Amino acid sequence: MSIDFSKIPTPCYLLEEDLLRRNLKLIQSVKEAAGVQIILAFKGFSMWKAFPIVREYIEGAAASGACEARLASDEMKTLAHTYSAAYQRSDFNEVMENSSHITFNSLTQLEQFLPVVRNFSRKISVGLRVNPEFSEVETALYNPCAPGTRLGILINQLGDELPEGVEGLHFHTLCESGADDLVKTLVAFESRFGKFLNKVKWVNMGGGHLMTRAEYDTKLLIETLKAFRRRWNNIEVILEPGSAFAWETGVLVSEVVDIVENKGIKTAILNISFTAHMPDCLEMPYKPRIRGAYHEPVEGKPTYRMGGNSCLAGDFMGFWSFDKELKTGDPIIFEDMIHYTLVKSSMFNGVPHPSIGMWTENGEFLMLRSYNYLEYKNRMA
Ligand SMILES: Cc1ncc(COP(=O)(O)O)c(C=O)c1O
Repeated sequence: MSIDFSKIPTPCYLLEEDLLRRNLKLIQSVKEAAGVQIILAFKGFSMWKAFPIVREYIEGAAASGACEARLASDEMKTLAHTYSAAYQRSDFNEVMENSSHITFNSLTQLEQFLPVVRNFSRKISVGLRVNPEFSEVETALYNPCAPGTRLGILINQLGDELPEGVEGLHFHTLCESGADDLVKTLVAFESRFGKFLNKVKWVNMGGGHLMTRAEYDTKLLIETLKAFRRRWNNIEVILEPGSAFAWETGVLVSEVVDIVENKGIKTAILNISFTAHMPDCLEMPYKPRIRGAYHEPVEGKPTYRMGGNSCLAGDFMGFWSFDKELKTGDPIIFEDMIHYTLVKSSMFNGVPHPSIGMWTENGEFLMLRSYNYLEYKNRMA
């Protein structure tokens, strides 16, 4: 549906409902055809005011800690499947209250928290994140299996028996991947961890299944999942993608505030910042698409860098060409800015924000500000 951008105040992250529904329908159809659970990873998309739409198609949430787990109860109306790189005792009760499944990243964390989970008033299914030591992800920032990684337990750390009380295995090795990558990952996973698969109730295959990308082979995904379940006695399978839900569902609308020139390079300074509002572009790095612009510079056409309105010298990207010279007030619309971009510029993973304090001249600690769940929730919409 075409958007009337004159009605959009800038800057604005803009979700398009029809595009979200298109993704949700596809995810729902995969879930039904494959006989698996597909739950939404909040770390990739947690715009909770859109959850009533999500819930029309998909139940279930994957959380990365206490805040996201509480959001699952609060706004997805479900208990979360929670996995955190490291839980803290101080907020673990909140994790338990809002989770049906809790996955641990290490054997020390399992040992520390299993007794607490066992004493909880309701049953919680416990899992371990394992590392299949295989990932095709080339960008180091996104490769959970890189040598030395802190993510997931290695087979040689587990030995021949799973610790008592463990009901599930979790792996996450994909990132914006195709179904063929899952096929290869399962070969590695089953060759290392197959000996446990008749002893567990569920396998969580993490996220990174970008099934809503145009060229994704959903048929192969469905066949692969069905065959995996057949091989392992109809084991329960869970996928927890984030990106796939919000892939290409919206834009970041900004506008030109000034144009500066230095040694022949023109920069359009915008009312947004790459470092503050599109951090992935600088971290990964990748160059986002701009609606109506040529993605690569075109000889003879007006060509610009886009600059952020922060003081960071590197807060710019480039170059893009346009059919006409840009001027102050022109809209600049960045494509595909709803998954990750939005959560990374609020409170990523719901990781609690550090308090802000002061050590006074009198040797006293002054707490100036601390943050809670509501601040996490209300940074998002
Ligand atoms: C454990 C885990 N599950 C799920 C996801 C979601 O992955 P994606 O948004 O790429 O589908 C991630 C992403 O980093 C993850 O670390």
